[in-house]
Amino acid sequence: TTSTLYYPIKLLIKHTPIVETMSEALSSQELKEIENNLVRLAKDEIGPVLKSKSGTQFGQFDDKANQVDLVTVIDKKVESIINKRLTSLYPDFEFIGEETFKPGLTSITNSPTFIVDPIDGTTNFIHGYPYSCVSMGLAVGGEPVVGVVYNPHLNMMFHASKGNGSFFNDELIHVTKRSLTLQQSVIALESGAERSPGSNFDIKMETYKNLLSDKGGYIHGSRSAGSAAMNMCYVANGMLDAYWEGGCWAWDVCAGWCILKESGGIVVGGNKDEWDIPVDRRCYLAVRGGCEKSEQQYFVKSFWSHVA
Ligand code: IPD
Repeated sequence: TTSTLYYPIKLLIKHTPIVETMSEALSSQELKEIENNLVRLAKDEIGPVLKSKSGTQFGQFDDKANQVDLVTVIDKKVESIINKRLTSLYPDFEFIGEETFKPGLTSITNSPTFIVDPIDGTTNFIHGYPYSCVSMGLAVGGEPVVGVVYNPHLNMMFHASKGNGSFFNDELIHVTKRSLTLQQSVIALESGAERSPGSNFDIKMETYKNLLSDKGGYIHGSRSAGSAAMNMCYVANGMLDAYWEGGCWAWDVCAGWCILKESGGIVVGGNKDEWDIPVDRRCYLAVRGGCEKSEQQYFVKSFWSHVA
């Protein structure tokens, strides 16, 4: 246990000191209203596009960072629809989207900022595997305070706002109380798009082995939805116990983070001893609720002890 996952923060972010808790500037009622607007936008406008276009873009996608980091014209189109809609509803808020961020220029400030992945699970979307979704979060003072994740293929709508609880298809999420231990857990793990032998990729593969092996964590199992947002939501409603990934971005996790937190879960860093991380940390461990705080903390420490 010597190395750590290392992801330079290329995108963002000027970490300005948070002078006051900005989320206090928006009441929970106002946050709820924003949540409702995002739910409507996801359901009425974005969902139908994702549903009708999933599986139709094979052979028409582009590479971004490498040959497995993919984007389609639909990602860009959907982001522009969302951007237009949100900018007209909330002209004073900032907007950051996966397909339009400018490395070195885009930054998350303390102002209310929509952080949006128009299609999370783009590879699934291209292949017609029904785990792509739209993920729209709002961060205030850098804290995720609203989140909406909608998978129209399986008709799964997750939404939350700070202080208002989280919902799955309009039912309040209440994670059934049960004990949480590493050995008896099912954990989402994703290879991500960075696959060069050396540092991060090797650390990830070694960590998977440590977790799964009967000489290591010997966890019940691992899963890969192929969408960070869906993984976070499955942890939020207790279908998964945890999700660990290095290499994803703020737009992959912002919405799911709020949904998870409101259902009693926590997000910490993917590397040891990172209890308190910013939304753009790019390396995350998400853990479900439905248990004692002390169990979550013990789980986190046990998990970290297996990071290679
Ligand atoms: C990706 C997915 C994938 C995760 C990657 C993300 P995208 O987002 O969430 O599950 O492993 O790290 O970048 O590219 O489909 O929006």
